[in-house]
Amino acid sequence: MARSQPAPRWAVLLSLVILIGCIVVPSWAVKHGDFKTCEQSGFCKRNRAYADDASAQGSWNSPYELDPATVHFKDGLFTGVLIKTTTADEKVRLPLTVSFLESGAARLLVDEEKRLKGDIEMRHGSKANKKRYDEAEQWVLVGGLEVSKSATLNAQSETGFTNVLYGPGDKFQAVIRHAPFGIDFQRDGQTHVQLNERGLLNMEHWRPKVDGKEGESGEDESTWWEETFGGNTDSKPRGPESVALDVTFPGYSHVFGIPEHADSLSLKETRGGDGNHENPYRLFNSDVFEYELESPMTLYGAIPFMQAHRKNSTVGVFWLNAAETWIDIVKSTTTPNPLSLGTSSKTNTQTHWISESGRLDLFVFLGPSPKEISKTYGELTGYTQLPQQFAIGYHQCRWNYVTDEDVKEVNAKFDKYQIPYDVIWLDLEYTDDRKYFTWDPLTFPDPKGMQEKLDETERKLVVLIDPHIKKADNYYVSDELRSKNLAVLNKDGDIYDGWCWPGSSNWVDCFNPAARVWWTALHKYDKFKGSLSNLFIWNDMNEPSVFNGPDMSMPRDNLHYGNWEHRDIHNVNGMTLLNATYDAMLQRKKGEIRRPFILTRSFYAGSQRVAAMWTGDNQATWDHLAASVPMVLTNGIAGFPFAGADVGGFFHNPDKDLLTRWYQAGIWYPFFRAHAHIDTRRREPYLISEPHRSYIAQAIRLRYQLLPAWYTAFHEASVNGTPIVRPQYYAFPDDEQGFAIDDQLYLAATGLLVKPVLTENTETADVYISDDEKYYDYFDFTVYQGAGKRHTVPAPENKVPVLIQGGHIIPRKDRPRRSAGLMRWDPYTLVITLDKNREAEGSLYVDDGETFDYERGAYIHRHFHYRESVLSSEDVGTKGPKTAEYLKTMAGVTVERVVIVDPPAEWKNRETVTVIEDGAKAGSTASLEFYEQQLGQASYAVVKKPDVGIGKTWRIEF
Ligand code: GLC
Repeated sequence: MARSQPAPRWAVLLSLVILIGCIVVPSWAVKHGDFKTCEQSGFCKRNRAYADDASAQGSWNSPYELDPATVHFKDGLFTGVLIKTTTADEKVRLPLTVSFLESGAARLLVDEEKRLKGDIEMRHGSKANKKRYDEAEQWVLVGGLEVSKSATLNAQSETGFTNVLYGPGDKFQAVIRHAPFGIDFQRDGQTHVQLNERGLLNMEHWRPKVDGKEGESGEDESTWWEETFGGNTDSKPRGPESVALDVTFPGYSHVFGIPEHADSLSLKETRGGDGNHENPYRLFNSDVFEYELESPMTLYGAIPFMQAHRKNSTVGVFWLNAAETWIDIVKSTTTPNPLSLGTSSKTNTQTHWISESGRLDLFVFLGPSPKEISKTYGELTGYTQLPQQFAIGYHQCRWNYVTDEDVKEVNAKFDKYQIPYDVIWLDLEYTDDRKYFTWDPLTFPDPKGMQEKLDETERKLVVLIDPHIKKADNYYVSDELRSKNLAVLNKDGDIYDGWCWPGSSNWVDCFNPAARVWWTALHKYDKFKGSLSNLFIWNDMNEPSVFNGPDMSMPRDNLHYGNWEHRDIHNVNGMTLLNATYDAMLQRKKGEIRRPFILTRSFYAGSQRVAAMWTGDNQATWDHLAASVPMVLTNGIAGFPFAGADVGGFFHNPDKDLLTRWYQAGIWYPFFRAHAHIDTRRREPYLISEPHRSYIAQAIRLRYQLLPAWYTAFHEASVNGTPIVRPQYYAFPDDEQGFAIDDQLYLAATGLLVKPVLTENTETADVYISDDEKYYDYFDFTVYQGAGKRHTVPAPENKVPVLIQGGHIIPRKDRPRRSAGLMRWDPYTLVITLDKNREAEGSLYVDDGETFDYERGAYIHRHFHYRESVLSSEDVGTKGPKTAEYLKTMAGVTVERVVIVDPPAEWKNRETVTVIEDGAKAGSTASLEFYEQQLGQASYAVVKKPDVGIGKTWRIEF
């Protein structure tokens, strides 16, 4: 986010000072001082101290107990009141519910009676809402809340436990301990998740500030009533109200998820020690300038969802809280008693979740596989939207294409050099003086002409629209925002002013229904003049980024609709803008309903329903290239798989080698976009000298060749929540050696295993293989086999190492075109690799790639399998009112080639195969050619022009 605007004098002076500083200090570094550490964040510090106290006291008893008189269980709901006993022997009442859900998830919800009833006094005459924030779920949850009627009480003994059986086949059990309160979640009689096992449950209850009585509570009150950071004093009108809980995963040594951090896939310990972090993982959506790697520092988005994994078992938790959150992770190993035979040491992962405000709202998932967790979590927060076909092609962006003529020229150059792309992007500078919904009249005099030109090859334009609105006269957007009272307010109830790209700005408050209606209207063609239907939206800076605010964002005591403080809603704030933009895109013009495409920088659980994300302002370094892979993988397992990183690196200039390798990795990001900072040199692929230009073009074409497989993967994500690119543990959940691997990936269930080159001067890749199937090099069918070890695969600069596991059928489109849209009617190639049993399977999902007609049956969904020398295509879709019409449009689209890798040797003497379409008795024939290869490379056979319809049922007999 390097700032680029006329600098005032003080800024010039400051720059000079910084410049001098840079002579000593390397310049590419995050400014740690701009962002809080746990120690600088009152509630984090208090809760860490609480944890330290608890562990220092050998016999620590958590002061939370269920009042036995209130405990009740009926129809899948366990309710009661938790009593917290304070050091002054005060009793604080905290109503609690545990719901056992039909999906197999369980939800623990705890609130505070006094705040719930509004029975508290605010300081400084603040108008802020008195309750703990209880609306996060309205933004986040979309289903999966049906309570299980079959959950039953197992045993309720006088000893103060309530046991509830629930989940599929009653295999799950919650053992609720009344005093001190805690819950053990068991599956098949074994404990997998423990709540409050370490006694760190802490709900800071409301209390009045009594002047002159400071320090009498016996607690550290220094950060209860006021906190200053980054020159801003937080008035904290409600005093301390943090909420914290420990969650232990016994026997689990790996935890994954909780994006967004630039760190390894398998999360590290956070309480110091060799190779560990000193600070907890932080979730507070922030615009972190020149972010650092291998760090628990917060970044632009937050998904408080974690998976814990061990051999053959995955469980998870989702901490539904929109306020700033910190998560400490420690691992403890229990060593067996040397005298007890047969027991081995086991690692427990202990986590500690700490949020600044809000309710305690936690979902627990008992798996047992990563796929089941993705499915259940997705039922709650929604699945990835099925994007338009163009959105999974290649996106060409930079800050900035400077004129409409420039855009047209870039467009033409891609064609001249025969490099496919689908979308060109306009950053900030297309606007008139950074006023969104306008065009710079000098540089973009003819936006319509530009969009029409792009449309000739079915290409699209994406433009940037940020949530800060320039405070300017004669700018109707600013006038309306202010006069209609739709902006975020400061603590005194006046419109909040801050500094962002346009200078002094106000922020649209999308929590306000009226603001959303207004935002929607702004996108209509008659308002956003010059925009056409092939224009889509990029919502950036929506953390929100405020250059002169604390933690680079808004003051926490700012007020949003409903008088919620900014502290309560910070992490869902960005998502409310996306929802509004999504609605806006749907309503641009009556009768013209297309799937919206939105890119967002800030996100929360649920954002996957409406947008794609990218990892923000990375750098053109090898380290950043390497970091992008675990970051994208982590997003996938946290339910937001439509993710990518700026290809080439945002800041600085990559050399040809780095850029080439970045493209070869970037084609495996679900969201594939090149982007660059305004100060960098132009680096569109056609500008790169040979042979690198060709290497990059080949990589992009590989992405396009595999678009049918990608689209199928997106479809799967949109109905099951499975990641589009998957890490090793997800593909092989029982292979312990693979759990921490995060530099190779699988494309959905296609069997494609990719190990991009992420380091300089590297010409080979060590690909880890879990199982004993044969793996074939994608390009020349070299065979690799051997479970549980790494195999060296050649990776010269023109090649990204890709293997195909035996047992798969992969759909492709092999004819090079200029854009994805132009490939619509092209025929398919199917590539088959056989497994040990000489079988294979795969699938294909196709629809119009544009509208919502698939919801009414306008799609093709086929399952392919190869068994006993027969390849067949079977329909796995369900019919709807639009099925027949759609199939008609696809009638001419066929399979033009089938490639069988490593076929039986006797096929050498065959010349034909029999093709039987739609159950016809008599078949036709198609030619079969056998290609024998050198030792080490598998032979292959090609069926030419079987010409079976892609939407039809057929068999090919070999
Ligand atoms: C932010 C974005 C970056 C964009 C820039 C200008 O820094 O992260 O991608 O180019 O703003 O809009």
